[in-house]
Amino acid sequence: MKQKENIIVVGSANTDIVIGVERFPKPGETLAGHGFLTNRGGKGANQAMAAARLGGSVAFVGKVGNDDYGRQTIEALNDEGIDTRYMLTTDETHSGVAVITIDGHGENSIIVDGGANMQLSAADIEAAEEVFRDAAIVLLQLETPVDALTAAARLAHRHGAYVVLNPAPAPKSPLPEALLSHVDLLIPNQTEAELFCGYAVDSMDTAAKAISDLREKGIRQTIITMGGHGAVVGIEAEHVAAYPTTVVDTTAAGDTFCGALCSALVRGSSLKEAADFACRAASVTVSRMGAQQAMPRLEEIEAMSL
Ligand code: RIB
Repeated sequence: MKQKENIIVVGSANTDIVIGVERFPKPGETLAGHGFLTNRGGKGANQAMAAARLGGSVAFVGKVGNDDYGRQTIEALNDEGIDTRYMLTTDETHSGVAVITIDGHGENSIIVDGGANMQLSAADIEAAEEVFRDAAIVLLQLETPVDALTAAARLAHRHGAYVVLNPAPAPKSPLPEALLSHVDLLIPNQTEAELFCGYAVDSMDTAAKAISDLREKGIRQTIITMGGHGAVVGIEAEHVAAYPTTVVDTTAAGDTFCGALCSALVRGSSLKEAADFACRAASVTVSRMGAQQAMPRLEEIEAMSL
């Protein structure tokens, strides 16, 4: 990785509308919920926020609608010191929205109407080339069009940055080689790894096999996140344990992991050290309700007793 410190996140920003419920409803059923809240979300903005709160110097590239949710999104990113100069606003559609229910075990069910996120184009990314010049890491997810992400990955490599892809939400069709050939580090969860490999990734052994098989397919490095079982890291398939916590809401656990990991990598941590730091950060996020509002700051992680 080159000696620059900036993390560029290219991706989605949503407003999350959240309701807690004892169990998920069946089709046609109405249930009483509790704990309604509206908060800032979206996988891209979540990852940018995690990286910034955990010490990274971050720029976010994305698109919002010309509406209150869009303005609140930009304001929240600005408040955290994230560079939003390359964020675009469109009059053509609304800002991204996610409707989220959280069950009594902290599991979530999410419906996203991507709105403006889905209008982010390769041309938008190319117009923002300047921001890629200072990038050490470019971090991508799959809530914006693949063409835009491919353009971002290509630009990242043109300017010598390290490309990290979190393939979430799980892709509905295989990702193009034009994108994957630029990925330096893939961070799938177990479900996403299964989609890439075609078999269940449900143990440390199958995770190790998946990492090795992905390498055969040209993916240079992979970290598989294993929920409450931590993560399996790199071609050595080193296990990093999850940190014990009480799970309240798993929303944005993976986003926290990815943002935290990148913030540690730019500080010079090894992949395993960064994954350990990221597991700690994700354990804090799942102990609280919400996406960005649940994410920890660096001081909090440093103060955690290990
Ligand atoms: O990864 C969690 C995020 O997914 C939520 O914040 C929601 O906006 C959806 O994008």
